[in-house]
Amino acid sequence: MVHMEKTRELVWSRSIESDDETYLLFLYREDFSAVFPHMIRYTLLLQDKNEIIAIFRTNNYEYSPTVPLDAESSAHRVAEEWAESLRKDPLSFLASRKMHLPPASTLLPSAVVVIQGSPRSDGNSSIMAQWVSDAAREAGKTVSVIFPDDLNIHHCIGCYRCFNTGTCTFDDDMGDVISAIQHSSLLVVCSPVYTNTVPGSLKILIDRCQAYQAAIVLVGRFKGPRGLILGVCGRRGSDNFRCLVPVLEAFMENVGIKVASHLLVDDVDESRDIATIPGLKEEVRGKVFDLLEKR
Ligand SMILES: Cc1cc2nc3c(=O)[nH]c(=O)nc-3n(C[C@H](O)[C@H](O)[C@H](O)COP(=O)(O)O)c2cc1C
Repeated sequence: MVHMEKTRELVWSRSIESDDETYLLFLYREDFSAVFPHMIRYTLLLQDKNEIIAIFRTNNYEYSPTVPLDAESSAHRVAEEWAESLRKDPLSFLASRKMHLPPASTLLPSAVVVIQGSPRSDGNSSIMAQWVSDAAREAGKTVSVIFPDDLNIHHCIGCYRCFNTGTCTFDDDMGDVISAIQHSSLLVVCSPVYTNTVPGSLKILIDRCQAYQAAIVLVGRFKGPRGLILGVCGRRGSDNFRCLVPVLEAFMENVGIKVASHLLVDDVDESRDIATIPGLKEEVRGKVFDLLEKR
């Protein structure tokens, strides 16, 4: 996980006279190359006395080299538009800049968050997710189970706008997922192996955590939950998890989650096979208790 030194350099400042008011505009440049090579973010701030009334952020990863537009000139263009609107009709401009709060999360904060990554709602991963939930409740913890296949989550389009604000361009169920992970102390991912990696709907959720990673990088270090990976696959041999585990570890690492334990079950294909393995439920239960106690 990357942590940045915060260095903000003032590119320019200027004043805008409108009616009897003087507004101040500042353009700042920040070097994000510790996160991604050559990434630069520009922040335009409009200030009225000591109050910030408008913010525009943009970074150079948003712009294709094939398009004759770049981050710095976009910021200049927005500055010109703001200045013109302020001079013409300051009241309308200020009303249009009122900040809107994001909608509240519909998921209640829980101590344990379980992501059940299989599209089969009654399959092996689902049974493991149920074992985890039962154990966590037995330990007196609140639990939320997230089923990516049932959610409305748009795939990441790589626009990198999340590095401007720490939030995603898409306003869908992913906001609730991130908020749930953020408030948890244990994150458990239960996933089958699909073509050596995770199923598509879980991969979409993982990629969309880029915005969560951006928020952590922008806001700074925080104490993330611990991570537990429970994997299942149809073929015989632990080698079948050789891609699944690094994918899930990379996901957790990117959002500051320390992977504390794994449990990988091979040679399990039919929907409820896993329930017939002697002692497995107790092993999962034991891992959950251990991780909850160590907090
Ligand atoms: C599309 C698809 C791809 C799969 N790819 C693999 C694979 O690469 N290796 C493997 O061992 N099992 C593979 N499997 C088998 C599943 O991992 C196995 O059936 C597992 O028990 C499914 O878990 P679930 O019951 O939680 O859905 C695949 C299954 C499907 C449907």
